[in-house]
Amino acid sequence: MSKIRVLSVFGTRPDAIKMCPLVLALDRDERTESIVCVTAQHREMLDQVLGCFGVRPDYDLNIMKPRQTLTTITEAILEKLEPVLTDAAPDIVLVHGDTSTSFVAALCAFYQKIPVGHVEAGLRTFDRYSPFPEEMNRRLTGRLATLHFAPTELNRENLAREGITDGVTVTGNTVIDSMKYTVREDYTFEDETLRGIDFADGKTVLLTAHRRENLGVPMENICRAVQRLIARYPELRVIWPVHLNPAVRETAFGMLRGLPRVTLIEPTNVVDTHNLMAKCAFVMTDSGGIQEEATAVGVPTLVLRTETERPEGLDTGILKLVGVEEDAIFDTASRLLSDPAFYASMAGAKNPYGDGFASERIIDAICAWKGV
Ligand code: UD1
Ligand code: UDP
Repeated sequence: MSKIRVLSVFGTRPDAIKMCPLVLALDRDERTESIVCVTAQHREMLDQVLGCFGVRPDYDLNIMKPRQTLTTITEAILEKLEPVLTDAAPDIVLVHGDTSTSFVAALCAFYQKIPVGHVEAGLRTFDRYSPFPEEMNRRLTGRLATLHFAPTELNRENLAREGITDGVTVTGNTVIDSMKYTVREDYTFEDETLRGIDFADGKTVLLTAHRRENLGVPMENICRAVQRLIARYPELRVIWPVHLNPAVRETAFGMLRGLPRVTLIEPTNVVDTHNLMAKCAFVMTDSGGIQEEATAVGVPTLVLRTETERPEGLDTGILKLVGVEEDAIFDTASRLLSDPAFYASMAGAKNPYGDGFASERIIDAICAWKGV
């Protein structure tokens, strides 16, 4: 019997981190033939992930441009993916989540009448402009897809509210599969700066921020809150692996470079990152994926956004939505640093995102759909 040809298309750091364990599982499964196409919407940050998981793409569209726009990303992928789809002739194209790579790859597959499977389907904030453009990217991908792999029951309900009930499977999130490869008790960091830090004093905080809607004033507010926290708490150490987006770097380095106990480093590889958050006192982030990962390892996390598509994490108490105003960030971080009862109320692993076998469930659902 011929194998099901599964083409996975991804291209940024977060979709790579969540698709690589699935690609490895597709490689292992005798029922499927795995083909990988990366758009390289991100270049260095994507290659870092591919290296960690040992995934070698069959096709590389290499589209990244400095200061690319949503339009240039979209047109480059549409143009360059079309011949790949013709050449690879997959039975199904898998895309992930909410990036422009995912939406445009789904659209391109639809134009060739190739069925699409949407991994991490059904996350919603119900605000079309926040996160932007991700909320619309995932809604449109949901419209285009034939199979929908929802991480949680709540995500399945979100799809049902939009009339999407056929081809939906609740699988767990592949990020937990990914963490099975990465998190270790006795881990030694690859990054030299991280190797030199003593995490035992419980005063180290991980910070990340990169969202389009946080560029400019919100990110300046975040930096100002950090300046105040550093001045107020003499033992506090803040580590920010800064995203390669020049707009992020201008603000981060412009406002925080040289500040004592603020360590601005290059993006850390995913294995370092997962182990870093597990060792930190708490996390401050506007990242989507880090909200799930921090929830899974039980590390209190202040979400630097006005909304989240991950209410499961809020329900555990581990995530707190603090927004992007300087005072709110300063006040809540201060409480975590000075009020042990408040800290304890947020800490402790309660993982609502699955058991680390999402990839296997996704493959089983694809095989069942093909009658294999
Ligand atoms: C993209 C996704 C966002 C996701 C984020 C994860 C879209 C529209 N946005 O946003 O959903 O949360 O990735 O990080 O799909 N750059 C490099 N090297 C890299 C990566 C980025 O130099 O390896 C720089 C380039 O100048 C690039 C810029 O960062 O133009 C922005 O990258 P882009 O993918 O357009 O936006 P992100 O904010 O990274
Ligand atoms: N991450 C990483 N190195 C970093 C920052 C983040 O490996 O320096 C990982 C993080 O653990 C998570 C993913 O990248 O798995 C999240 O990516 P990002 O925050 O860029 O995107 P989002 O999840 O918000 O779309």
